[in-house]
Amino acid sequence: MTITIKSPDEIKIMREAGKILAKIMTALKSEIRVGRDLWDIEIKFLDYCRQYNVIPACKGYTAMGFLPPFPTGLCVSTNEESVHCFPSKGEIVKDGDLITIDTVISYKGLHVDAAFTVGAGNVKSSNIKFMNTAKKALLESVELVKEGVKVGVISNKIQTIVEAAGYSVLKDYAGHGIGKSMHELPEIPCYGKPTDGPVLERGMTICIETLVSEGKPTIKYVSDWETEMKDGKNFVQYEYTLLVKEKGYEILTDFEV
Ligand code: MF3
Ligand code: CO
Repeated sequence: MTITIKSPDEIKIMREAGKILAKIMTALKSEIRVGRDLWDIEIKFLDYCRQYNVIPACKGYTAMGFLPPFPTGLCVSTNEESVHCFPSKGEIVKDGDLITIDTVISYKGLHVDAAFTVGAGNVKSSNIKFMNTAKKALLESVELVKEGVKVGVISNKIQTIVEAAGYSVLKDYAGHGIGKSMHELPEIPCYGKPTDGPVLERGMTICIETLVSEGKPTIKYVSDWETEMKDGKNFVQYEYTLLVKEKGYEILTDFEV
């Protein structure tokens, strides 16, 4: 598989899809508070997808037949839960919880992907610092995106910011290209050397995701899909879908993480 370059028409569609996902994520973020059932957030999301005429692309996703169909529209993780966890009924948000929402929609055959973590109620100051570091790693690595830059430059920026603050980056999962498929090349790890990986070209659409752990980066599998941090420490994630341009980038899923 090669890295796909999107046509102007495809970019137009992804831009539209990105605006829709940004609106949905902003709405979901405002719904997260102490006492909320996470299943209600899932239902809200599916309602928004119907309303905006987009497909909740995680639901039923099989990762090219390797895994059983993903059961829900959202990936929702609490505290030490890591990537690809399912929301379920009766999972109530508690005071101080860190809630991560990650999801993909498809629109006219093209995908966009985004994620955020938000704290509920009285969040420990150490957790605010932790979330802000992962957020900063996303925002500052995004700034480096433009044609001619190696993927490793982005990866290295994420790793440097996260490790300088005393946290660690996950190595088992990564950002990725996106388009007709949810996961395309290039892979965009959260670690590496600036000389690593392929060179970005205009017209590529990529997902940068900062997958960050407060403790060690080792994950364990809870089910075929669901993971949590092995040491029980917190996990957070921020993600945007971007278009690579000649002189910079455009955030397609532009919402306040
Ligand atoms: N941002 C996540 C990823 O790229 C979205 C996963 S959706 C799922 O893996 F269906 F794969 F869970
Ligand atoms: Co992703």
